[in-house]
Amino acid sequence: MERCDALARHSELPGGLTRVYLSREQAAANELVLGWMREAGMSARLDAVGNVVGRLEGARPGLPCLMLGSHLDSVRDAGKYDGMLGVVAAIDCVHDLHAAGRRLPFAIEVIGFADEEGVRFSSTLIGSRAVAGTFRQETLDTVDKDGTSLREALRGFGLDPARVSEAARQPGEVLAYAELHIEQGPVLEAEGLAVGVVTAINGATRYALEIEGLAGHAGTVPMRLRQDALAAAAECVLALEARCGREADLVGTIGKLEAQPGAINVIPGRVRFTFDIRAPSDSQRDAAVKDALADMERACARRSVVFRANKLHDERVAACAPWIMQQIGAAIAAEGLAVRKLASGAGHDGMALVGLCDIGMLFVRCAKGISHNPAEAISAADAEIGARVFLRFIENFQPKARA
Ligand code: GLV
Ligand code: MN
Ligand code: MN
Repeated sequence: MERCDALARHSELPGGLTRVYLSREQAAANELVLGWMREAGMSARLDAVGNVVGRLEGARPGLPCLMLGSHLDSVRDAGKYDGMLGVVAAIDCVHDLHAAGRRLPFAIEVIGFADEEGVRFSSTLIGSRAVAGTFRQETLDTVDKDGTSLREALRGFGLDPARVSEAARQPGEVLAYAELHIEQGPVLEAEGLAVGVVTAINGATRYALEIEGLAGHAGTVPMRLRQDALAAAAECVLALEARCGREADLVGTIGKLEAQPGAINVIPGRVRFTFDIRAPSDSQRDAAVKDALADMERACARRSVVFRANKLHDERVAACAPWIMQQIGAAIAAEGLAVRKLASGAGHDGMALVGLCDIGMLFVRCAKGISHNPAEAISAADAEIGARVFLRFIENFQPKARA
């Protein structure tokens, strides 16, 4: 809990937590984590995309690893456990193994992923994609809100954009990826459970949208002659809410919306906004995205404004491997706790790593299911239970028998 507090102090916002990819704050958080990894007995380094990577050798050097971890970046005005808890818990587990002089028949690596939230650039999971070997070179050209490209930001961080592919790992090097993370939802709390086994990570599609109308004088243009981009955007917001509200488990969010020129006496001429649609089934999500875009298109056509849509992210449902779920479940049961399986509505680094190896996740209860909010909270007792279960899982981990 102290380490989560310490990480939360490295923030762009005083009095809150905002730490985005390749920022000064991230460099400071990385230094802390590198130090903790070394204290825990690991060799530790920054990889080519800015992830922090610690490694504890197994019974002999060079064995394939069980990869553990989570992310070190945050959303804007974040809570201090989303991501960070998984990194510090994994380091704590390694610390215990190392202190006891244990050497397992596999290596352990702990990764603090540099970009899971996708807040800075219009791309997400940059850190874990690079590790999975699915980083796309064109992502280097994406720019942040100040016009800095990912290529420039990597250089500013002391990294070489031409070498990002060196962060990629080979399938033979990684036996599995396991992540401890707060649930970010209310299910475990409602059922009085401290931990749960994740079955799958819901898929997500994100778009950047733009409506171009005509800016004009707020006093002179009659209502019926306006091409108000914000009024059209308001219809789009409600269309998405209505479409996603029709089905259980389907969710849609417009989390960012900016009207220009943004003056009290000017009809908005341009609006830029985003949507994020998620569901436990790919076909359900695809249908909702298609319908939402068609609804928005129609609303804009009716208002004679131009609608543009640009897909930013389209991540399929990432299933957790049954053999890893079984081993996480066994660790929970061995602690005398009920084994509750649940899907993850939130995205995680495992969505990218599933391209490299099988994945599994352990969820830890959080207060009222609140997350992506500074009110995010967990109890120290739950953090301890989570870490104990995770350690038991690691100690007893059996790689999948090769066919
Ligand atoms: C990441 O936390 C996401 O689910 O957006
Ligand atoms: Mn998050
Ligand atoms: Mn997270």
